Amino acid sequence: MNKTEEKIRELVKKYFAENNIAALIVKDGRAIITLQNENEDQTKVKELEQQIAALEGINKVNIIFTSERGAPTLGKEPEKWLLKGVKKVIAVASGKGGVGKSTTAVNLALALSKLGKKIALFDADIYGPSIPTMLGYENQPVVSYDGKTFAAFEVHGIKSMSIGTLIDRDAPIIWRGAKAGGALEQLLTQVEWGDIDIMVIDMPPGTGDIQITLAQHLKIDGAVIVSTPQDIALIDAVKGVNMFQKVDIPILGIVENMSYYICPKCGHKEEIFGHAGAKETAEKMGVRFLGEVPLHIDIRTHADAGKPIVEDKPESPQASAYMEIAKKLV
Ligand SMILES: Nc1ncnc2c1ncn2[C@@H]1O[C@H](COP(=O)(O)OP(=O)(O)OP(=O)(O)O)[C@@H](O)[C@H]1O
Ligand SMILES: [Mg+2]
Repeated sequence: MNKTEEKIRELVKKYFAENNIAALIVKDGRAIITLQNENEDQTKVKELEQQIAALEGINKVNIIFTSERGAPTLGKEPEKWLLKGVKKVIAVASGKGGVGKSTTAVNLALALSKLGKKIALFDADIYGPSIPTMLGYENQPVVSYDGKTFAAFEVHGIKSMSIGTLIDRDAPIIWRGAKAGGALEQLLTQVEWGDIDIMVIDMPPGTGDIQITLAQHLKIDGAVIVSTPQDIALIDAVKGVNMFQKVDIPILGIVENMSYYICPKCGHKEEIFGHAGAKETAEKMGVRFLGEVPLHIDIRTHADAGKPIVEDKPESPQASAYMEIAKKLV
C-alpha cells in the first residue's frame, strides 16, 4: 500500500469507522472507494470526499456504498434444491449488464468440457436469456420422455437448459421474486442432468433477487466475476464480489473481458478501455485474477451463430484465452 492509499484509509476510518472498506482503487488521479454498509449522512460523505480530493495526486473521488442484502441470518435454513448427479456448481456473474457474461459462460463451459469434464450450462438470466442462441438450440422444443422430467439439450458435448425455454420471446413476461424463483427451481430440479462434474450457471446481471434466491437454495461452490476494464464496470464488479462473499460463496476469480481490441485485418492490438483494471481490482480485493479475453469480432459472430469460438476455432488465440482460464478454474 502506498502513502496516498494509507492516507485515504485513515480518512475513511475517521468518518466511517463502522464501515468496511471493501475496495480502494487509486488510478490516474482518481480514487474509488467502496464501503460495505449503508450510508446515512450525506454531509459526512461530502466532507470526506473533499478531504481525499485535497490529497496530493488525487483529482477525482468516488465513494460508493454497497449494502447488498445478504441471506437472512435468522429463521430456518432455506431448503436446498436437489440437482441430481451434479457434483459442483459455478456461477458466472457480473455486477453490470452487457459485459460479456453469457459469452464467457458458454466459452468457459466448452473449454472445461475440452479439459475432460462433464459439463452442464444452465441459463438463469430471466432478463435476457441468451444461451439457447449461443448454443444453437433456440427454436427447439423442450422434450420430456417420461412426462415428469425434462431432457437437457445436448450441444457440442455439453448439456444445457435455459429459463428462456419458458419465456415467449415475442411476449416476454416480467418475472419477479417468487415466481421467477419457482420457475428456476422447477427447471433446475426437473431436468435429467445425468452425471455432471461441473454445472456452470449464467446468472442475470447485477446483485438482485435471483442471485440471492440461487445462493440460498443451491450449494454454489464458487463464483466467477466477469468485468470489462472500465471503472464503472469495475465498481459494479466489486459489488458483485461483495454480494457473493456475504453469502459465503467463494470467489474463484475475476475475468477481464474486452480487455483489448485485436484488429482482425492487421492483428494490431489496441487497449481501448485502458488495460489491467480488473487485474488491479482483483489484487486489491484479494481475489484471483483469472485472465483476460480480447474484444474480437470472431468471439461475437461465433456466439451469435450458435457455435462459440472455443468449439469452432479451437486453435485461435481467442479460444486459448478461454482455455487458459478454464485450466486455472479446474
Ligand atoms: N470478447 C468479446 N469480443 C467481441 N464481442 C464480445 C465479447 N464478449 C462479448 N461480446 C459481445 O457483446 C455482447 C454482449 O455480450 P453478452 O451477451 O455475453 O453479455 P452479458 O454480460 O451476458 O449481457 P447481459 O447482461 O445482457 O446478459 C454480445 O453481442 C457478445 O457477442
Ligand atoms: Mg447474458
